[in-house]
Amino acid sequence: MAFSYLSAGESHGPCLAVIIEGVPAGLPLDEATLAADLARRQLKAGAGGRMAIETDRASILSGVMAGKTTGAPIALSIPNKDFAAWQGRAVPAYTTARPGHADLAACVKYGFDDIRCALERSSARETACRVAVGAIARAFLGHFGIRAGSYIASLGAVREAAVPPAEALAFAATSPVRAPNQAQADAYANAIHLAGVKGETLGGVIACQVEGLPIGLGSYVTPERRLDARLAAAVMSVNAIKGVEFAEAFANTELLGSALHDPIARDTAGHVCRPTNRAGGLEAGMTTGQPLLIRAAMKPIPTTLTPQRSLDFATGEPASTTYERSDTCPVPRACVVIESVVLIELAAALIEKLGGDSLPEMLARYAALPTADALRLSPEPKVFWPERPGL
Ligand SMILES: Cc1cc2nc3c(=O)[nH]c(=O)nc-3n(C[C@H](O)[C@H](O)[C@H](O)COP(=O)(O)O)c2cc1C
Repeated sequence: MAFSYLSAGESHGPCLAVIIEGVPAGLPLDEATLAADLARRQLKAGAGGRMAIETDRASILSGVMAGKTTGAPIALSIPNKDFAAWQGRAVPAYTTARPGHADLAACVKYGFDDIRCALERSSARETACRVAVGAIARAFLGHFGIRAGSYIASLGAVREAAVPPAEALAFAATSPVRAPNQAQADAYANAIHLAGVKGETLGGVIACQVEGLPIGLGSYVTPERRLDARLAAAVMSVNAIKGVEFAEAFANTELLGSALHDPIARDTAGHVCRPTNRAGGLEAGMTTGQPLLIRAAMKPIPTTLTPQRSLDFATGEPASTTYERSDTCPVPRACVVIESVVLIELAAALIEKLGGDSLPEMLARYAALPTADALRLSPEPKVFWPERPGL
């Protein structure tokens, strides 16, 4: 399988573990590469006390020799520093289910009477594994000039501002709240502060962009090979993500067809180009060579300092939820998680497209891929899909 992985581990167990299969040989890889992305998952803004305890470092246990991948499965472990603090401590049973978390359905499904048996694994601590795997995907795709970034488009009631994507991505890269510009950063920081004061949690919309993609990753030939479906599933698999769209898919429904679709044209240098990107970089489940634009809606997380109405499993009586350490707004921390799951899916799609066992072999094949300019289109600079009046 191209670039697949299986993670294991509980939030307060000794460590998280993950095995990645299908990474080609010859990719330079070290623990510092993984640490850079893991640090981005530990942004302080909106984070709870756990992040002050952990300094996530992934150890590479297999699949890398002399600083390069060997093509064998790569095993990683990420210790939970908080494990030591829980050793020998009498941890009371947790029996009041939090609305919005795994608690109620998991206890019914698996027959638990202590919610901790479910929450230890349903916790988003697991996303540290995906960020470590995503860092490998990022390193791999970087050799092909494929880069990903993200920013928070809106947070709670703070609406999206019109910021050009290049500016938004550049600003967000160093913004503690992953905002697209300073005005939004101030508004986000204030909103997170106020939510914390009120004992509330905040959600938001994460915009992720990937540049440098070739034409033709994914396929329309079977539903499983559609890259839009695979990316959407990957993004939806992240804890607390409740919606996904490519470019402005929901707003695009208000346009007429001829106003929506991205014209196919030639630029002044004679290269085939798409002057707009309302499709978000995907048509018929394949990359178009345009930037991939994907948005994820993250809900306000379930654990709130403000009690919520629930039931106590132990007594069967109505009870209010209780609060143990939790984030206020993990949206800034989730940005790198979204980038990671997107990069993992793209790495798998690129490996499927190119085949081959080693990075040098793949790079040679990549250089030989056809581009849109290989089509026998008119050499005249000409718009092939002229603007048409609406219906
Ligand atoms: C990076 C990250 C951090 C999270 N931190 C918390 C948290 O501290 N407390 C909490 O209740 N939920 C947190 N969540 C969300 C829960 O894990 C999630 O809501 C829960 O697993 C239920 O799944 P669902 O929301 O996808 O239905 C976090 C999610 C992410 C991506």
